[in-house]
Amino acid sequence: MSKTDDNLMEKIVSLCKRRGFVFQSSEIYGGLAGFYDYGHYGLALQNNIKNSWWKKFVDSRRDMYGLNSSIIFNPKVWVASGHVAGFLSTTPEGKKFNEMFQTQVGAGEEAITSYLRPETAQGIFVNFKNLIDAHHPKLPFGIAQIGKAFRNEIAPRDFLFRQREFEQMEIEYFVRASEWEKYFEYWKDEMLEWMKEIGIDMTKVHELEVPNGERAHYSKRTTDFEFDYPFGRKELFGLAYRTNFDLSNHKLDYIDEEKNEKIVPHVIEPTFGVDRAVLALLLSAYKEDPEGKQVSNGAGEKDGPRVYLKFKPNMAPVICAVSPLLKNKPELVEYANTKVYAPLKAEFGRVAWDDNGNIGKRYRRQDEIGTPYCIVIDFDTLKDDTVTIRDRDTALQERIKVSDLVKYIEEKI
Ligand code: GAP
Repeated sequence: MSKTDDNLMEKIVSLCKRRGFVFQSSEIYGGLAGFYDYGHYGLALQNNIKNSWWKKFVDSRRDMYGLNSSIIFNPKVWVASGHVAGFLSTTPEGKKFNEMFQTQVGAGEEAITSYLRPETAQGIFVNFKNLIDAHHPKLPFGIAQIGKAFRNEIAPRDFLFRQREFEQMEIEYFVRASEWEKYFEYWKDEMLEWMKEIGIDMTKVHELEVPNGERAHYSKRTTDFEFDYPFGRKELFGLAYRTNFDLSNHKLDYIDEEKNEKIVPHVIEPTFGVDRAVLALLLSAYKEDPEGKQVSNGAGEKDGPRVYLKFKPNMAPVICAVSPLLKNKPELVEYANTKVYAPLKAEFGRVAWDDNGNIGKRYRRQDEIGTPYCIVIDFDTLKDDTVTIRDRDTALQERIKVSDLVKYIEEKI
């Protein structure tokens, strides 16, 4: 592990709290292991990840249908899927334990026991017939869903890595049995391409062929995409060949019009954890600049190297921040607000107003949020309608015309 990996997790966790990305859930009551809350910037990062995923795998394709199923199902679903019998862990006391969270549905004697879904995938399988009847898709086709999943993990740990409540982005891609290998390879490439697109450090991503005996109960082949986290090389995302296990167990089938026969399609499943994507992006983007000259030591902030999150602009929670040099000069504030902030906000949405503390402190804060550009309105602006724009990665500033700002940022991103 390189020198910058020393205490990297501690640094990330602390940055996430300090800058409003991620907080421990119910923290004022001591928290609850395995649960986290996303703040303003963490949520923006999460949304950028989910939107990019949906755009690539749903909106830009002709063979994909979206779904948003319920979280609690008729418990028969989990019997048929094999989860009631097979979704087991072993406690440190050596006892078998089902990881599904149980819940009571209804009151009194009418109440039934069901479960919070441990994967979004079953919502897709049990809606298979509905989707076929509504859209009449031809094989191969897929159904995609983004949503929460819950697992009563015995040892939640490593921040967002292993939680009890987390989010998944899953695709069940239905194919003819004879074609599963071809589509398995196809989806492997698609997954790698998307990881690269969002800015995951691909030198830290490794494929692992999961051996017999270690795969989930439904899988005949699984490739894990592992990531070099500071706490070791562990799973980031997965790709499984689920055969026709799930559709068969739910007694679902499909009329293959091409061959004029009833078949039970086979399934390739690319699965992505949203929270692991967030963690991998934070770890990929985290940079320390020992030469950093932009460090300001305002009250309460420690000296140290300049820290910045080198997100791709389309993933960054904030695209640019707008700052009047002095917040007690109404003419600067008025100009910054009406002539810079308002038009940029209308254009890009993810634009921050930052007038808190001195300029050095603001740069330091925006660097840690991963904001690619900081724009400062000063007294020269009032004379010549120019502003300084500072680049997050180089910390260099240039002076440009206010009327060129939108075009300048558009070109950069
Ligand atoms: N439907 C298949 C399935 O659920 P999985 O490998 O158990 O497969 C899929 O989970 C993805 O969900 C993982 O690759 C990981 O990204 C994420 N994931 C699983 N358990 C998690 C947990 N406890 N905390 C955070 N993310 C988790």
